[in-house]
Amino acid sequence: MIETDVGVCMAKRKRKRHLFADHVAAIPVSEPPVRPGIVGLSRTVPSTILRPPYADSGDPGPAVSSLVRTPAELDAMRRAGAMAAEVLIHVGQFVEPGITTDRLDQIVHDETIRRGAYPSPLNYRGFPKSVCTSVNEIICHGIPDSRPLADGDIINIDVTVYVDGVHGDNSCTFLVGDVDEHSRRLVAETYVAMMEGIRTVRPGSKVNDIGRAIERHARAHHLGVVKEFIGHGVGTEFHSDLQIPHYFDPRARIVLEEGMTFTVEPMLTLGSPSLFLWNDEWTAATQDGRRTAQFEHTLVVTPQGHELLTVASDGTTAAELYAPKPEAVSS
Ligand code: MF3
Ligand code: CO
Ligand code: CO
Repeated sequence: MIETDVGVCMAKRKRKRHLFADHVAAIPVSEPPVRPGIVGLSRTVPSTILRPPYADSGDPGPAVSSLVRTPAELDAMRRAGAMAAEVLIHVGQFVEPGITTDRLDQIVHDETIRRGAYPSPLNYRGFPKSVCTSVNEIICHGIPDSRPLADGDIINIDVTVYVDGVHGDNSCTFLVGDVDEHSRRLVAETYVAMMEGIRTVRPGSKVNDIGRAIERHARAHHLGVVKEFIGHGVGTEFHSDLQIPHYFDPRARIVLEEGMTFTVEPMLTLGSPSLFLWNDEWTAATQDGRRTAQFEHTLVVTPQGHELLTVASDGTTAAELYAPKPEAVSS
């Protein structure tokens, strides 16, 4: 009896694995592979702009802030979140074949300081540029460089701004010109997966409800979930104590409370989510060379559930403006 049960179970599991492998085998590796380009000088920020504690040393120190924000901090976070969204929407207008990721860095940098804010990535743990740009098989933390975008690329732009003593963290994956159907499906479903995770957020829900919802959506669409990078508390610190896995982690049982602020930022893959780091020690790429997408919002837990903070002052988000809609994509 027991043996038979185990046998059935194994057969089922094998069949599933086999199906998944077939699915992945049908998905091409991204060609040509993304290679490191030339990284320009770090940009400078006028001395009139408030700098985060790591701006000169590169060292943010240990995370010490409370998980719950004060009303004054929340007010500031609404402004920082809106500004991050507006800078991201602004740079999105320039995404087209031929523009280099270094030029996108300049656009984000200039727009951020024009608004009186500091571009949070700049010198965070030594990061050399003002925004992260992650193309095709790059999962996250791509460093802007001399590579021009090509027709058919996808690119995640991850904008974080520091203003009034708090950070707002927001990212979107953009389509460059004419993009293949697998990649369009990946980008569309990654956005839906993020929103499915965010939908669970309310006082009394658990951190792992977020990852459970994201992982369920990813699996249903034969997409992988990156485990090595997670959402995080954010506020006066860029990365504060709360850890938000994008997969179901039984240990992530922290109960959410009104006033907690954090990001949800799943990275999903067309193939295996295994990764490696480039020699620059920042750029994370899929081992199998298949493509990956990411979206990110900063949010706060409210009595009613949650409020997205990375929303432009006119109510729009970068993802709503730029992400492909799943219904327009056949799967
Ligand atoms: N914005 C990224 C995040 O979502 C962090 C970038 S850290 C940097 O957490 F140093 F690479 F900028
Ligand atoms: Co983040
Ligand atoms: Co980010």
